[in-house]
Amino acid sequence: MIITIDGPAGTGKSTVAQTIAERLGFDFLDTGAMYRAIGLEALRRQADLENHRELAFIARHAGIEFDWGHRPPIVLLKGEPVGHLLRGAEATRAASFVAVVPEIRDILVREQQRIGRNRPNLVTEGRDQGTVVFPEAGLKFFLDATAAERARRRVAQLRARGEIVDYQEILAQIEERDTRDRSRKVAPMKPADDARVIDTTALTQQQVVELIISAAQGHQ
Ligand code: C5P
Repeated sequence: MIITIDGPAGTGKSTVAQTIAERLGFDFLDTGAMYRAIGLEALRRQADLENHRELAFIARHAGIEFDWGHRPPIVLLKGEPVGHLLRGAEATRAASFVAVVPEIRDILVREQQRIGRNRPNLVTEGRDQGTVVFPEAGLKFFLDATAAERARRRVAQLRARGEIVDYQEILAQIEERDTRDRSRKVAPMKPADDARVIDTTALTQQQVVELIISAAQGHQ
């Protein structure tokens, strides 16, 4: 069974999806990491983030793979493990520029579908997993929360890591990224018609996990 978990940044999607995959013994696919890895490569090559042809060329030669020998799997860029480099502000921003390029989405969607065929018990998270990549998925969720709450969570996370951050700045970054993700022409972020939308604003991650697990158990 494929379980899709989509939604904007700061809804706890990654942690929730990873925990569910662990609990159910499913594989876990972080599709954002693929866009981020191409964003990182674009930054390394000092690409113009508005130039679709240049970004598509980079994506065609980026060689993004996962090492499935680890749980969660490790993202490789031309064989180099880059997971720890993908969460910075620069790669995060670059990823959302990469994600508007139709040719890049085509490449990554096909790769994600290939992974889904090889790993039929999969929890996959992103923006378009329920709408475009796995429209036939057995269970679909869309996690949401107010932008203010998502920014608050992000600030807490960064401060816990010892970073000095400004709430207003983080809120502005989140809103900028959401707008780009929601308004792009190809595969805009939105819940699939048959997705269950969970507003996580007032929920803990544990509560979200339990909601999804009980839906999955009811479904089996
Ligand atoms: O989920 P994450 O924050 O890692 O995603 C980074 C960026 O990649 C998002 O802002 C979005 O632009 C893009 N993305 C996407 N489709 C996906 C996953 C991520 O467009 N399935």
